[in-house]
Amino acid sequence: MEPVEPFLHAVTAQLVEQARQFDPQIVPYAEHALNNGGKHLRPTLVALAAGCFGKPSEAHVTAAVIIEMVHLATLVHDDVMDEAQIRRGSPTVAAKWGNEIAVLFGDCLFAQALKLASNFPTTEVCRAVSLATNTVCSGEILQTQQRRNFPAARRDYFRVIGMKTGELFTLACDLAAFLSEAKPEQRAALREFGAAVGTAYQVYDDCVDLFGSEAEAGKSLGTDLAKGKLTWPLLLAWKQANTTDKKNLENLIQNWQPENFEPVKALLEKYGTFAPSVAIIQKHLDQAHASLRPLPVSPGKTGLLALADFLAQQTGALAVQ
Ligand code: IPE
Ligand code: IPE
Ligand code: MG
Ligand code: MG
Repeated sequence: MEPVEPFLHAVTAQLVEQARQFDPQIVPYAEHALNNGGKHLRPTLVALAAGCFGKPSEAHVTAAVIIEMVHLATLVHDDVMDEAQIRRGSPTVAAKWGNEIAVLFGDCLFAQALKLASNFPTTEVCRAVSLATNTVCSGEILQTQQRRNFPAARRDYFRVIGMKTGELFTLACDLAAFLSEAKPEQRAALREFGAAVGTAYQVYDDCVDLFGSEAEAGKSLGTDLAKGKLTWPLLLAWKQANTTDKKNLENLIQNWQPENFEPVKALLEKYGTFAPSVAIIQKHLDQAHASLRPLPVSPGKTGLLALADFLAQQTGALAVQ
């Protein structure tokens, strides 16, 4: 991320500016949500994808800010649904001010992002952001409909994560290419990269929820099981389990109690779900690598590939946490 540090500083400064634009009584929520760190993965993707075509422009910074605000809006709402207490090492908006404020403030954030998108001389940016936002929220809805729904299909899992997470990664790469006036095939290649890394990232995040540490992640973990989200490791265990273990797993998830965490983890271990989860992450990261073949060598491309490799490395590191 080092080559894109100046870009990320500009994004952080614009997020501070955006937070100030809310009604004075809402500014504390905005500052808490917008100016509280985070990895800024999606802005990083915008910067690196732009770096495939030259130096990122001010327009790229604005696109990154818009995407980060949409991302934060979805997190504010996601934490309400998941009843999560901690986000980015601090209390969630919902934990600090309650669910009602969090729902309404999340709406304000979506609206603010779209207002910023309308500043572009073309409607293309606003349109792409609106479509992607719709897809992300639809993914969260599908996931909610599918909760505790055995037998869960792997196809449904990948559709949901492609929508709820892959889509904003795709948008980040897509808008960067659009604003750089990339050729259609280059834009398509970057979109494909975003979708593949986004999918890999959500499988990784789902592994973190089960096998990671809260201190490392800076957010509440274990909420997927509590909320009946049937993520990849769980699907793998269920698929391989004998009849008794299948029933057992279903019962543990359907009648969730915090003390069910350990027996579920024991079943995940019994059926060796970690290694194949790493393998599926790697498969998507390999796809990400392959998708960039049409692009010539550039600092941006090198950075994107390094980002995919870093995710592979982090996935390996999960095994020792
Ligand atoms: C969290 O996203 C939600 C997922 C898609 C897993 P990030 O892991 O990018 O969260 P921040 O922005 O760094 O806090
Ligand atoms: C990602 O799902 C949420 C969105 C894409 C909005 P998670 O529920 O796994 O995200 P975290 O783990 O809370 O960050
Ligand atoms: Mg969550
Ligand atoms: Mg998660």
